[in-house]
Amino acid sequence: MAEPSTNELMDKLVSLCKRRGFIFPSSEIYGGINGFWDYGPLGVELKRNIKDAWWTDIVRKRDDIVGLDCTIIMNPKVWEASGHVTGFNDPLVDCRGCKARFRADKVYTVIISQGGNVLFSAGVEAENGEQARELSLKKANSKTRRSIEQHDGQLVFCTFRAENPREGGAHARLLLTHHDPKGNEFQETSSEGHNCLCPNCGGHLTDARKFNMMFKTYVGAMEDSSSLAYLRPETAQGIFANYRNVLDSSRVKVPFGIAQIGKSFRNEINPRNYTFRSREFEQMEIEFFCHPSEGSKWYEYWRNERFNWYVGLGLTSSKLRLRDHETDELAHYARSCADIEYAFPFGVSELEGVANRTDFDLTQHQKFSGRDMTYYDDETKERYIPYVIEPSGGVDRAALAFLCEAYCEDTAPDEHGKPQPRTVMKLHPRLAPVKVAVFPLVKKDGMPEVAVKIHADLKAAGVATFYDEKGAVGRRYRRQDEAGTPFCVTVDGQTLQDQTVTIRDRDSLEQVRIAADKVVECVQQRMK
Ligand code: GAP
Repeated sequence: MAEPSTNELMDKLVSLCKRRGFIFPSSEIYGGINGFWDYGPLGVELKRNIKDAWWTDIVRKRDDIVGLDCTIIMNPKVWEASGHVTGFNDPLVDCRGCKARFRADKVYTVIISQGGNVLFSAGVEAENGEQARELSLKKANSKTRRSIEQHDGQLVFCTFRAENPREGGAHARLLLTHHDPKGNEFQETSSEGHNCLCPNCGGHLTDARKFNMMFKTYVGAMEDSSSLAYLRPETAQGIFANYRNVLDSSRVKVPFGIAQIGKSFRNEINPRNYTFRSREFEQMEIEFFCHPSEGSKWYEYWRNERFNWYVGLGLTSSKLRLRDHETDELAHYARSCADIEYAFPFGVSELEGVANRTDFDLTQHQKFSGRDMTYYDDETKERYIPYVIEPSGGVDRAALAFLCEAYCEDTAPDEHGKPQPRTVMKLHPRLAPVKVAVFPLVKKDGMPEVAVKIHADLKAAGVATFYDEKGAVGRRYRRQDEAGTPFCVTVDGQTLQDQTVTIRDRDSLEQVRIAADKVVECVQQRMK
């Protein structure tokens, strides 16, 4: 079956997620709110399974990482120390014409000139390398399109490419290369930000203004600067703020890590690409403290460990990649950084970042809080501020990548053996919202009673299960395929003779008979 195009795929996925209860727009009955998403009955299970898998693999299965759950609102000094109050800014421009708002470092005007004559100019919004090309061609305003047609004889081939496409990279530049009919390359130029034209309407943009992305709130009855507080934009700082507490209360020894999962909030200028860039989202972060001389070793370790975690949960295709940052992409405090990226239908983008943050954060907090952040090694008698390796991922982005990877259209035989098209979410069994569905083939002859008993046994064993006795069995299988349920157990006529049932595998479509009283054991075995 032909693969849907990337745009089609995204549309189909969004529609399936809404229809089947994975993801809904927040407060939809009031028209929604940009950048906020709700997770329905299937979505909340998927998200919980992702978080559980992370917590189990990162905290419970290891001896060198402990967990933490700290508040969303903290003393605002935390954000002064971390640099967020002064530095967590996006440069913002508004269109004087249509009033659209853009990040200044993501808007470009491309001017192509030949022998001093400007051929055309276009306002282009670039998200990353892949997307720049798509958006620029798609979003170019009507004037630009006409310009392209007008110069069709000369503009034979155009490519847009963003250099240094790191998200938020302030100096990404967009290059446009084009060739004349003889294959000669034309001059290419690009300008940034406030000199640009609006990508929507070609109108003029305001000068860039700094826009701090932290959501502000007030604590207590007074609404003035003395009560100003922030909704955390990352969970990491709560870990640094508790580093001393953890060190003093647990028997951890460097190297060790502190892990936290929780909500973060960023007032993104342009929330986009479904849940990918939201204003409220969840992060899964580890701050791993090590001796400075072992920073590079642990960085390499976590870079590979985290990549393999996604592979192990089903992101096995070539769409998953690990990209090391160029030196000029690194934040001033980071020694090295790698992004785990996924080729989403809307472009290649970051799922998780792994960074060697050196001793920057603990040194800052020591300076601002006056508390000692050094670690004393009893054995070597050495005192030092540990280096920090930070693997920082997003639950919502992971969920979106798993959903994109899982979406599949193929055919499966119906109850008469005739192949029928089906949509199937091939989610890893650990992540699937429902692990097993139980059906009586027909709603009579004692079959429902047996099926209800199997369903109850599965529930008692803590296996997420769904009972369905309505409609043709083929349709019931299809509904479960769309929900990503890996196994379906069916009670049929033979069950009543020999106490066996069929178990159907969602992906291979193989059906085998097993003893009815072995269903729980068999499902648990297959879920590993
Ligand atoms: N403590 C480091 C930190 O927060 P980040 O790259 O800004 O680094 C880490 O964020 C991860 O959090 C990202 O890789 C992404 O998965 C997730 N994330 C960041 N901003 C997000 C947003 N607006 N919507 C959804 N997820 C986001």
